[in-house]
Amino acid sequence: MKKFFPLRVFGLFLISISFLTVCGFAQSVPQLGKSSVKDVIGAMTLEEKAKLVVGNGFNMPGAGGPTIGQTKDKVAGAAGTTFAIPRLGIPSIVVSDGPAGVRIDSIRNGDRSKTYYATAWPVATLLASSWDTALVKKVGAAFGSEVHDYGIDVLLAPALNIHRNPLGGRNFEYYSEDPVVAGHITAAMVNGVESNGVGTSIKHFAANNQETNRNTVNSVVSERALREIYLKGFEIAVKEAQPWTVMSSYNKINGTYTSEEYDLLTTILRKEWGFKGLVMTDWFGGKDPVAQMKAGNDLLMPGTKEQSQKIIDAVKNGTLDEKVLDQNVERVLNLVLESPSFKGYKYSDKPDLKKDAEISRTAAEEGMVLLRNNDNALPFSKSTQKVALFGIGGYQLIAGGTGSGDVNKAYTVSLVQGLSNAGYEVNADVKNVYTSYLAEEKAKHPKKSFFEEFRNPTPPISEMFVDNGVLSKAASDDIAVIAIGRNAGEGRDRKLENDFNLSDTEKSMIKTVADAFHSQNKKVVVVLNIGGVIEVASWRDNVDAILLAWQPGLEGGNAVAAILSGKVNPSGKLATTFPLKYDDDPSSKNFPGKEFPDQATTTSFGMKQIPAEVTYEEGVYVGYRYYNTFNITPAYEFGYGLSYTDFSYENLKLSSGEFKDKITVTFTVKNTGKTAGKEVVQLYLSAPANKMDKPSEELKAFAKTNLLQPGKSQTITFTLTAADLASFDTNSSSWIAEAGPYAVRIGSSSTKIRFSKPFTLASDIVVEKDNKVLSPQVNINELKKQGAKETGFIDELNNFSAVGQ
Ligand code: BGC
Repeated sequence: MKKFFPLRVFGLFLISISFLTVCGFAQSVPQLGKSSVKDVIGAMTLEEKAKLVVGNGFNMPGAGGPTIGQTKDKVAGAAGTTFAIPRLGIPSIVVSDGPAGVRIDSIRNGDRSKTYYATAWPVATLLASSWDTALVKKVGAAFGSEVHDYGIDVLLAPALNIHRNPLGGRNFEYYSEDPVVAGHITAAMVNGVESNGVGTSIKHFAANNQETNRNTVNSVVSERALREIYLKGFEIAVKEAQPWTVMSSYNKINGTYTSEEYDLLTTILRKEWGFKGLVMTDWFGGKDPVAQMKAGNDLLMPGTKEQSQKIIDAVKNGTLDEKVLDQNVERVLNLVLESPSFKGYKYSDKPDLKKDAEISRTAAEEGMVLLRNNDNALPFSKSTQKVALFGIGGYQLIAGGTGSGDVNKAYTVSLVQGLSNAGYEVNADVKNVYTSYLAEEKAKHPKKSFFEEFRNPTPPISEMFVDNGVLSKAASDDIAVIAIGRNAGEGRDRKLENDFNLSDTEKSMIKTVADAFHSQNKKVVVVLNIGGVIEVASWRDNVDAILLAWQPGLEGGNAVAAILSGKVNPSGKLATTFPLKYDDDPSSKNFPGKEFPDQATTTSFGMKQIPAEVTYEEGVYVGYRYYNTFNITPAYEFGYGLSYTDFSYENLKLSSGEFKDKITVTFTVKNTGKTAGKEVVQLYLSAPANKMDKPSEELKAFAKTNLLQPGKSQTITFTLTAADLASFDTNSSSWIAEAGPYAVRIGSSSTKIRFSKPFTLASDIVVEKDNKVLSPQVNINELKKQGAKETGFIDELNNFSAVGQ
């Protein structure tokens, strides 16, 4: 007998359904922000989870195809978005490059009536050369306001990989060869940007120090060099600023892709350092999405359907525990919760570009480094009016590098414009020769799309040969300024010839111009508009002054003119060494490493991938740690920079001659010259090397004084803790401060030590015990100090009458 549902019961059922609907049954589906994150995750299907941890795709043919674009057009030109899940109240968020300014399309859908330009800030190398964390924070705050105003949630910056080698193609995006500078400058930038309620992504984590074979290269590096050099800056930044996100890098470390390395992303980053945020991959970084989930790489960018599918399959077949995935999902949701998109921020698309241009210019002025100034060639004398400007770089400013570190800016101020704006008469005939040459050369290379340029970059325009015809046009000018420009960017490292080393035409230009001007007792000034280190030793004696302008952002020409004219007194110092020659660099023997071409493959979008390996045999002896310890004289040392005034260092005091749990260091810096100026002061520490090999000294703290008027002084205070005394002992995986004599060395550069004072540590302190992880699989023949000439450190301790006291 068929059983029929009694009509009355059915009626009741219908009534209850409508009642539940009216009372919000539909709303009882958890909503992000209203329900707990756990409840939202509980309501998600596996497919939704696997979508959320994988970005929304990239509009590039062959990259797995663009996935369903949800807010693809919200911020045109942004690097990526995440998936929205509207039924759970989860919006899509937008992430965008990059380190030197917001990188988005300036024009949308061909409509030129409205533009979306962003400020090109001075590149990272310049910002670090300011050694001024307050300034960098201010830049960050203005930078972050553009991120916010353009509807972006997370800025894919700052970048803080170490300048391991001068040819690193992305060095302009990175701060320094030293992790203490890189770490504190990064923290300041993160704090500035994030003060706007938007996120940052500090990148590329870690040991990503070259562009050659960047997606395949295995960085073989010791635990100690990792901990002390390549991870240290990230550690400082995480602990000081707790950025919203970290971006893992493309390379492998000791055999494993960083994005698949649990010990990097979880053991070290989260458990040891206490990182609370999310980790995303670099774009298409790593290979195995399941391993990435397990490692704690929560978001795969820009994301492909295949990655989501692999995650779904792995949960279904039991190779990925759904709890692990839930943890990744939770971190994505926590990020979304913080985002302006989630909060419904009504962005204006109208940042205050005028105000920001001024901040960009001031920052540029603060980070340019005066490398040479014989006979006070600079600032220009009062009688200087007519300037002859040589070098194509004088007529086209390189505001910043290429690739994702580029910025679509409304304009750039070239050197010729900057000098004219400052009231100088720049020789119009010389200018005409250069501008016609540039126009002709540019016409030979029509503009390419971003990806074409990436695959096959347009060669830089070669320098113009300066002949007597050009020179004769400049006969009545008061001074010669010669500009040398360099550009580089992601995907490629720089070259030794015609890049690190000047081209023959450039050298001949310098010599010809210098001879002509010097023969009339006129000065010659070189302006270096470069993103990374170049060779200077072979030509610098030909010229009177050299100003390292770096790649100074969109207002560069005005900033250079302010320094040349003396309106601004230069106060930048090098955060990266200029070697005498390339081969002097400790990494030159191992850069960019070995390739294994027989194992090459081709990516889905046609790029050849050659497996490669680079061994960091220089160990901790990177940059000045090497030059100082091994007594190799560089062209310009780490921490070096001239000023238009002089400073004396006085009255160094340590709070105690014996270290207990900290030591306070004070001293006074006085402007003894005639011009107001700022001084960058540096504290180096020499530590006993009884059990561990150590560099002769290492930077532990730095500061920039206020603008000191002539005769005025400022007292500087630094505090050293046990952590500052410690080195990483590989055997015990711990940071140990060794007992013995230490010297605090206060320098105006890493070699110009103004005075020093000793203290002792009675017995070893184990400052921190870490996990034994990321060990190399092979023996590394690491550079050691044995054989290095004694640095005189002990002599100095014995008769330490401080210089300058
Ligand atoms: C770069 C990253 C960048 C990302 C998104 C990658 O090629 O290495 O630094 O953030 O692209 O544009």
